[in-house]
Amino acid sequence: MFKPFKTNADINKVESAFSAPSNIALVKYWGKYPVQIPANSSISFTLDKCKTETSVEVNKISNNREDFKIEVFVDDKLNADFKPKIIKFFERVEPYFSFLKEYEFKISTHNTFPHSSGIASSASGFAALSACLVDIEQKLSDKNNFDKSKASFIARLGSGSAARSISGPMMIWGDHSKIKESSNESAIIFRDIHETFKDYQDSILLVDKGQKQVSSTVGHDLMKNHPFSKNRFNQAQNHLSDLLQVLKGGDLDQFIKITESEALSLHAMMMTSKPYFILMKPQTLEIINHVWAFRADTDIPLSFTLDAGANVHLLYPKGHITKVLEFINTKLVQYCQNEQYICDNVGEGVKPLA
Ligand code: DP6
Repeated sequence: MFKPFKTNADINKVESAFSAPSNIALVKYWGKYPVQIPANSSISFTLDKCKTETSVEVNKISNNREDFKIEVFVDDKLNADFKPKIIKFFERVEPYFSFLKEYEFKISTHNTFPHSSGIASSASGFAALSACLVDIEQKLSDKNNFDKSKASFIARLGSGSAARSISGPMMIWGDHSKIKESSNESAIIFRDIHETFKDYQDSILLVDKGQKQVSSTVGHDLMKNHPFSKNRFNQAQNHLSDLLQVLKGGDLDQFIKITESEALSLHAMMMTSKPYFILMKPQTLEIINHVWAFRADTDIPLSFTLDAGANVHLLYPKGHITKVLEFINTKLVQYCQNEQYICDNVGEGVKPLA
């Protein structure tokens, strides 16, 4: 689909730097086929403040090599732990770039959110790195038309959800019969949203900042022989078509019904797989119950969604920020590790760094 460009052999050195945000799925991607093809389509809000900032410097090597030459720096320190993941990623994306073995790579990366916050950095991390690679390809081939669709395609091969971090305010990834141009290969932008969603807020309550109990790779795998997988994949497709109408029209009651159901369905899948897992913590349930009571008492359309972990994302319109923050500070911080939470909002995707 995305052929490699012919690069200019005379260019010895190129640099590129991009930031890419995390994203929060409203209809969840959970279950995939090789290579990185989602079992159902998903949609997410692109975030703004939780970002990875990555710079890549490439220098020409005299002889073509059999292997990749890569150095990875995390927070300015040489880091060996990420290298195998990045090598695997380079192997996967090699058919789409012609320069990966002709240059040596120095990759420096940094997250703006706390390292051990339990927030997945793979989406923002692979989105930022992919944006750099697509940009470098442009520079090496004397073109200047940054192709976001290719960046999403490449990011997907690193981590599925990364495909949805390239643009904003929302992105859809995965074939859907009712969504023209939807694709399993790269995510598309969804802009046709009601005013209220354009600056929607996401306050992330950090309930458990430790290592993930189940990696997404293992989690996706558990959907393979799952007794409810077929129904789950259908449910997600239906949720997505219903949600698109809601996002256009701004019906917050329906928004809450669909997105909270998605979060709980995701966790229900984990509770009913073999082996089974409970990824919520008692604090997660406390927070959910408080959110439901708050909504009933105040009529403020505050809702929650969950990732594959115990942290809770609180979603709400910007107009209610003062009341919601007061609620978080008085009632909910006690359930967060070290009383920590992160306030984010809808954003626009990857940006070149000066
Ligand atoms: C629960 O994108 O992390 O966050 O493709 O194996 O890297 P890989 O999985 P990943 O899975 C994300 C799962 C999720 C839901 C979502 O973001 O849609």
